[in-house]
Amino acid sequence: MKLFSLLFASLLTTAVTARSAQHVGKKLPTLEARQPQSKVHRRGDFPRRQNSKYDTSATQKYVVNGTSLPYVDFDIGESYAGLMNITDDADDGALYFWFFPSVNPAAEKEVLIWLNGGPGCSSLEGFLQENGPVLWQYGTYKPVQNPWTWVNLTNVVWVEQPIGTGFTQGNVTATSEKDVAAQFMGFFKNFVDTFAMQGYTVYISGESYAGYYVPYLADAFLNANDTTYYNLSSILVYDGVYSYDSIGDNIPTASFVDYWGPLLDLNATFLEQLHNTSEACGYTQYLNDNLVFPPKGPLPTPPYPNDNNDTCNTWNMVYQAASAVNPCFDIYQVATTCPLLWDVLGFPGSFDYVPDGAFIYFNLTDVQTVINAPVQEWYECSPINVFVNRTDNSPPSGLSVLPSVIDRADRVILGHGLLDFILQYNGTLLAVQNMTFGGMQGFQSGPDSFEDAYVPYHEEYQLGTLAGAGVMGQFHTERGLTVATVDLSGHMVPQYAPSAAYRHVEFLLGRIPDLGYRGPFTTMSNTSYGRD
Ligand SMILES: *[C@@H]1O[C@H](CO)[C@@H](O)[C@H](O)[C@H]1NC(C)=O
Ligand SMILES: *[C@@H]1O[C@H](CO)[C@@H](O)[C@H](O)[C@H]1NC(C)=O
Ligand SMILES: *[C@@H]1O[C@H](CO)[C@@H](O)[C@H](O)[C@H]1NC(C)=O
Ligand SMILES: *[C@@H]1O[C@H](CO)[C@@H](O)[C@H](O)[C@H]1NC(C)=O
Ligand SMILES: *[C@@H]1O[C@H](CO)[C@@H](O)[C@H](O)[C@H]1NC(C)=O
Ligand SMILES: *[C@@H]1O[C@H](CO)[C@@H](O)[C@H](O)[C@H]1NC(C)=O
Ligand SMILES: *[C@@H]1O[C@H](CO)[C@@H](O)[C@H](O)[C@H]1NC(C)=O
Ligand SMILES: *[C@@H]1O[C@H](CO)[C@@H](O)[C@H](O)[C@H]1NC(C)=O
Ligand SMILES: *[C@@H]1O[C@H](CO)[C@@H](O)[C@H](O)[C@H]1NC(C)=O
Ligand SMILES: *[C@@H]1O[C@H](CO)[C@@H](O)[C@H](O)[C@H]1NC(C)=O
Ligand SMILES: *[C@@H]1O[C@H](CO)[C@@H](O)[C@H](O)[C@H]1NC(C)=O
Ligand SMILES: *[C@@H]1O[C@H](CO)[C@@H](O)[C@H](O)[C@H]1NC(C)=O
Repeated sequence: MKLFSLLFASLLTTAVTARSAQHVGKKLPTLEARQPQSKVHRRGDFPRRQNSKYDTSATQKYVVNGTSLPYVDFDIGESYAGLMNITDDADDGALYFWFFPSVNPAAEKEVLIWLNGGPGCSSLEGFLQENGPVLWQYGTYKPVQNPWTWVNLTNVVWVEQPIGTGFTQGNVTATSEKDVAAQFMGFFKNFVDTFAMQGYTVYISGESYAGYYVPYLADAFLNANDTTYYNLSSILVYDGVYSYDSIGDNIPTASFVDYWGPLLDLNATFLEQLHNTSEACGYTQYLNDNLVFPPKGPLPTPPYPNDNNDTCNTWNMVYQAASAVNPCFDIYQVATTCPLLWDVLGFPGSFDYVPDGAFIYFNLTDVQTVINAPVQEWYECSPINVFVNRTDNSPPSGLSVLPSVIDRADRVILGHGLLDFILQYNGTLLAVQNMTFGGMQGFQSGPDSFEDAYVPYHEEYQLGTLAGAGVMGQFHTERGLTVATVDLSGHMVPQYAPSAAYRHVEFLLGRIPDLGYRGPFTTMSNTSYGRD
């Protein structure tokens, strides 16, 4: 599956040309790309809907001028952004959103919500660096059009929440996921009324700490019994928190280090010490006993569930040791090496980095004015608490609401990038093995039987937005739950593997039967190259 050049059927050079290897006195062979069978997509403005049904007197104050975003030299299309009150009383606060209607006819009566995690991280991160129509990613020269934006598939709204995050307004009062969901539900009702989206089918997606937000919100939507506003169909979470801290970090850490082996460049003495610690702390045995399919019974509470034993913090040991040999070691994507790149959102890896003289895009007054945001300081991840006392009193979703959401939703997809160290794939599998859904506990069969997840070959080879194709991971579905891996992705799957994420959303929306499906992208039916 990694023999990229074998997979190109006919010989034709396109935009993907050889990268210079001059400094080693070599000339790289030209990459062979397949011959487009129909016209190449015109690079230009995003399609703009004529007489949009969303362009009404009620929405005028949210209109964003698609040609006036600073640094963006193309029309981003029709969109609406601004603050939306949570209740009728402005003192109860407001959430900030940016909504993009899709021109896809299948999107007529559906809406997809995207939420970043943190807690306290802005969903505008996802917007600008993962799945929005405009991408400005680490180290890149300027914003570019994103051919993999989820707006191609459906109507998408990026929402900053809970109160305390990004541009949101109001006092922080949340102490639990119930409070967070209540804020969102209030916002969403007003949003639906403003854009006349009553009766729309709702999809909720997110990443990381949104492993709390998304299932809890889905649960609240389903519990509301109100299909006018809260008609939830399906959810998608990337690299989420679903269980005790140690399930996602310390317990699988030694297996993660073994899996990635030489990539992490850890010395033999350290590796021995790591394995000894993992054994002494009970992690190795816990993983061996419990990462079994089907599960043998309820999983015991893990050793040091809240990472509350410093000598047993294997995750931290690896972080320190890997950072010594690779000071740019990125806990979100462990194949990252130096240099540390400039990030227009100020957070290019494991830590904040704003070079002297650099700006933060959404902190610019000119940007804030265009997107109807309050003119104020903006942080990708809030320096203030978004929960009272920094404490979310809700149990993780895998130990509470997620199983029943699986039972009630059409589809639940838990995606995971294997290069993610901060939350590891084996932890997601452990969390799944302890959930009872569809009347049984966990997956009945394990990774050995998982199928290849397929991403169609395509002709989107703009050098600013290259995205892979072929078998890029594995997937498995049982009783409404799908787990999907992306081999060469870090934590932010739509950022690192946009074509794979696009495929996941096609499945989320019910547009393809499963992730092994060999057909073309639903939006590129004339131009794709399904194999087999
Ligand atoms: C949108 O912005 C462009 C560029 O600033 C400007 O020329 C145009 O008049 C604006 N359109 C509207 C409707 O305000
Ligand atoms: C929020 O609600 C207050 C009071 O009803 C109202 O004055 C204000 O305009 C609302 N804000 C927004 C952004 O809708
Ligand atoms: C937030 O709290 C402060 C101090 O407690 C209070 O003065 C203010 O009115 C509150 N703001 C809102 C929007 O509730
Ligand atoms: C809710 O969404 C489903 C699709 O999941 C759709 O079939 C149904 O008609 C919607 N219900 C209402 C009341 O709009
Ligand atoms: C929703 O319906 C369920 C089942 O009919 C019922 O148990 C629950 O109380 C209802 N919830 C609300 C908020 O009406
Ligand atoms: C997960 O754990 C299993 C069992 O220890 C191991 O074989 C596998 O390589 C691990 N996978 C990853 C991605 O760390
Ligand atoms: C930490 O774990 C080690 C190894 O299991 C154990 O000996 C030690 O007592 C633990 N310390 C605490 C504070 O629990
Ligand atoms: C598994 O679930 C049981 C309850 O059924 C709970 O007591 C235990 O802590 C859970 N363990 C893990 C690892 O989630
Ligand atoms: C091996 O790695 C550990 C952890 O970073 C470090 O303390 C130790 O000095 C290293 N050994 C050598 C020989 O570099
Ligand atoms: C954000 O903008 C404010 C106001 O212009 C400025 O004082 C602050 O330094 C900016 N912060 C960053 C990190 O650029
Ligand atoms: C927050 O912490 C203070 C001081 O420890 C405590 O009095 C208060 O009850 C806490 N509030 C919540 C909601 O936990
Ligand atoms: C998304 O839409 C744009 C504009 O129509 C198009 O260029 C691009 O190829 C589409 N992407 C996919 C994956 O279909």
